[in-house]
Amino acid sequence: MKLETEWVPVALSASIEAGTSAGAVVDGSEIVVWRDSSGKAHVWEDRCPHRGMRMSFGFVRGDHIACLYHGWQYDNAGQCRYIPAHPALEVPQTIKVPTYLAEEKYGIVWATAAGEASLPDIDGVTDVTPVRSLYIDRRADDVAAALCESGATDMGLLHVGDDCLLVALQSISQNKTGLHIVIAGAPAAHTGAKQKHYAVWAERLRFDLEQKAEVA
Ligand code: FES
Repeated sequence: MKLETEWVPVALSASIEAGTSAGAVVDGSEIVVWRDSSGKAHVWEDRCPHRGMRMSFGFVRGDHIACLYHGWQYDNAGQCRYIPAHPALEVPQTIKVPTYLAEEKYGIVWATAAGEASLPDIDGVTDVTPVRSLYIDRRADDVAAALCESGATDMGLLHVGDDCLLVALQSISQNKTGLHIVIAGAPAAHTGAKQKHYAVWAERLRFDLEQKAEVA
C-alpha cells in the first residue's frame, strides 16, 4: 500500500486521543497522526518547515499544533499562523506542512495523498472493537502471506473461532510492518476478555513470524 495512491492504515483510532499526536512511518516516509480537540484526526508529514523538528513532538492546542522547537503554530490545514518570535508578522502562505487526507473507518485512521482513492469497504462490518497495534520485523508481503495461510481475505478479515478480526497492514520499511487489529462487532460484546485474548494472539503471531524469519 502506498500513501501516494491508496488509503493506508496508520494508527488505531483509539490510540490517538483528542489533543495528542504520534509519529508513524509508511514505506520510509515519516508522518504525524494527530487529533484536534474537536476529535478530528489529521495526518501530515512529520517535519516542521522551519528547521525540520518532528511535528509529532509538538503540542496540540485546540485546532492547531505547535512545534516543540520554536513554537511555530500550524492550523489544521497545515498552514503556519503564528511565529512567536515575530508576533506581528503576517505569516506567508508558503509556510505550510504538507498534509495527507485522513479518514477514520473500522476503528482505524487511514491516510492517502490520492484524492480519488476509495476507502476500503468491507461487507458486513459496521461496529468494531479495538484490540491493539503491533509491529513485526517482517516485510508486509510476508505478514500478508502468513495471514492468508491462516484464512484471511484480501481485505484482512480473519475468522478465528466465532469471532472475526480485521487486521490492517501498514508497510513501515523493507523489514517492518505495523498491524492494526480490531474485532468486528460492537464494544459492548467484545470489550475486556476478548480484547486481551486477541492482544495475546497478536503477540504470538509476531513471535511466530519473527522466529520463522530467523530460521529462514
Ligand atoms: S523547527 Fe519548528 S518552529 Fe523551529
